[in-house]
Amino acid sequence: MMNFELTEEHLAVQQAARDFAQTELLPGVIERDNEQKFPAEQIKKMGELGFMGMMVDPKYGGGGMDTISYVLAMEEISKIDASASVCMSVNNSLVCWGLEEYGTEELKMKYLVELASGQTIGAFLLSEPEAGSDATSQRTTAIDMGDHYVLNGTKNWITNGNSASYYVVIAQTDVEKKHKGINAFIVEKAWDGVTVGKKEDKLGIRGSDTHSIMFQDVKVPKANRIGDDGFGFKFAMKVLSGGRIGIAAQALGIASGAYEFSLKYSKERKAFGTEIMNHQAIAFKLADMATEIEAARLLCLKAAWMKDQHLNYDRASSMAKLFASEVAMKASVEAVQIHGGYGYVKEYHVERLMRDAKITQIYEGTSEVQRVVISRDILK
Ligand code: CAA
Repeated sequence: MMNFELTEEHLAVQQAARDFAQTELLPGVIERDNEQKFPAEQIKKMGELGFMGMMVDPKYGGGGMDTISYVLAMEEISKIDASASVCMSVNNSLVCWGLEEYGTEELKMKYLVELASGQTIGAFLLSEPEAGSDATSQRTTAIDMGDHYVLNGTKNWITNGNSASYYVVIAQTDVEKKHKGINAFIVEKAWDGVTVGKKEDKLGIRGSDTHSIMFQDVKVPKANRIGDDGFGFKFAMKVLSGGRIGIAAQALGIASGAYEFSLKYSKERKAFGTEIMNHQAIAFKLADMATEIEAARLLCLKAAWMKDQHLNYDRASSMAKLFASEVAMKASVEAVQIHGGYGYVKEYHVERLMRDAKITQIYEGTSEVQRVVISRDILK
């Protein structure tokens, strides 16, 4: 059966996220972008509203919602503040979901309850100076010492790097076994030997805190390993596959935010004796934006639905991310064009959305990585 209608619950989540974005995120978003200020208070409130662990079982502090609700909320938050939404997405998809799906009961009680309720936030540490797209080339090592591991290495471009209390760290335990010798661990930021490195000065999502993280002889208890020995790379791939739905929804939100600001502006701004929306040059841009955004939304919702139905969603999540991120880029560039000179200054929001859009083609797998995933699935 095909059903394109959202349920009452979905509509309520969407409305709550929309209201929050308009009342709590919009007022300070330009300032946070300018000053590279992390939206700490706003993230705390998002936790109280249940947005930081949306899909987690309520017994572990989560919202018990489905992935469709997550996509709807991500779109609304991202229309206004993609820095807040990347924090939300990493916490929901890469940290909470992986921990709930593959962590022990002990780990869930110790960390997930706090993370899913938004009392603390988490980060996902896979990327390294020489392991971005080529994620199997891990240089960070976790040497097995019997009852604990010793962690050494450096991670790069870590979203929530400083604001997180807990890190999900991917590291190489046995080099001989290549990707089958990789493990995932929960590491506390407060532990000895953990250092937060420099904050990146970024083109976009400037309110999110992106840092390098260094580990020097960090003692990690065996109990903090997620999954069986050697499961770390598969764990990372599975977590990222779900995470790509979140980033696809972020890209969708950036695109639809750019569209909504443009539509509003086109109805207000007059040129050549009429509101600019009455000029076909503008109306056709809006028509293309609306069409492409709708296609991106359908891909996001389909991937979310597949995840909720426990179907294999790897291809669907990569398609959604690949397409939605391209739509975000295109729609935000068009939004600046529609706004003319006003689009090139900060006050009208669309230049920020254009800068924010670019990262959606890079993180959680570049567009090229998505094409690898999709084409391998086609050809297998
Ligand atoms: N589920 C389960 N297992 C999977 C999988 C999946 N979705 N994808 C791959 N695997 C398994 C494979 O089956 C294989 O295992 P076996 O040898 O046992 O069969 C193993 O993983 C290695 O797979 P590949 O041979 O396909 O690996 P590859 O080296 O060719 O790489 C890749 C594939 C798709 C390019 C992968 O490396 C990749 O996804 N790279 C991008 C990494 C990425 O997304 N980084 C994002 C960092 S986090 C971030 O960005 C967060 C943020 O800031 C917001």
